[in-house]
Amino acid sequence: MKLKDKVALVTGAGSGIGKAIATLFAKEGAKVVVADIDPEKGQETADMIKQSGWDARYVQSDVSREADCEKMIQFTQAKFGKLDILCNNAGIAMVICPVENVSEELWDHIMAVNLKSVFLTCKIAIPIMKEQGGGIVINVSSVSGIRPRSGLCAYSASKSAVTTLTKALAIEAATHNIRINSISPVATDTPMLEDMMTDEMKENVEVTKQFVLATIPIGKFAQPEDIAKAALFLASEDASMVTGIDLPVDGGRSI
Ligand SMILES: NC(=O)c1ccc[n+]([C@@H]2O[C@H](COP(=O)([O-])OP(=O)(O)OC[C@H]3O[C@@H](n4cnc5c(N)ncnc54)[C@H](O)[C@@H]3O)[C@@H](O)[C@H]2O)c1
Repeated sequence: MKLKDKVALVTGAGSGIGKAIATLFAKEGAKVVVADIDPEKGQETADMIKQSGWDARYVQSDVSREADCEKMIQFTQAKFGKLDILCNNAGIAMVICPVENVSEELWDHIMAVNLKSVFLTCKIAIPIMKEQGGGIVINVSSVSGIRPRSGLCAYSASKSAVTTLTKALAIEAATHNIRINSISPVATDTPMLEDMMTDEMKENVEVTKQFVLATIPIGKFAQPEDIAKAALFLASEDASMVTGIDLPVDGGRSI
């Protein structure tokens, strides 16, 4: 087991990639806090992990709010006594549209959930990790932040900034034995894929998917478990010399 006796907090773990990360971390011996804005989905993930004989707790949290970030980190410390691994996975998409159709509210909301959340959680968690003598942060960014697609300006900009914030914090925290890395998934088989589609695209989901697929050199969508395995590597001792990187899990899309 690669994460025996570790304590991990995974945001957005009620669905998709976060759910796969929380499950794999628990399987590998970590005690996991599942944080999600959606109580039903978050509790379901925690219950599923517990039914497998592993350890998990759910806490409701909107990662765009500082008070909620404090709450979920305090919850983790109260339940499990420490915080070894913080995985900032929660994120939202936008429906594909030209920049002139992006409202100020939508821009702000995407930045708050995808980017400000990483700043807030790191601001709270890093001092705790410093005091503990070390820790690990994994931020789920996106290949959209490296090689943007048309019509996703706010989403791509938020993810690009997550990758840069990761590097900025990694250099700041390195001397405290804190490793901070990001992962950039390509289109992954989760509910988010359809969240990006226009009504017209939704009428032809399979055609749209084939169009996206044609842009992924390896010829397939990522599965949530592919991203979870990359997160496990970064969370484990196997990556003890790895900090400040962005790891694309993208089937060659960013080449
Ligand atoms: N699916 C993809 O194609 C893809 C590709 C690249 C990157 N990503 C990134 O991976 C991460 C996970 O995406 P996913 O595909 O699993 O999406 P998903 O929609 O399946 O899951 C996202 C989860 O985050 C939760 N969430 C949303 N807003 C929240 C908030 N404010 N506070 C707390 N939780 C919140 C949702 O309730 C949901 O359970 C996101 O950061 C996303 O940008 C996804």
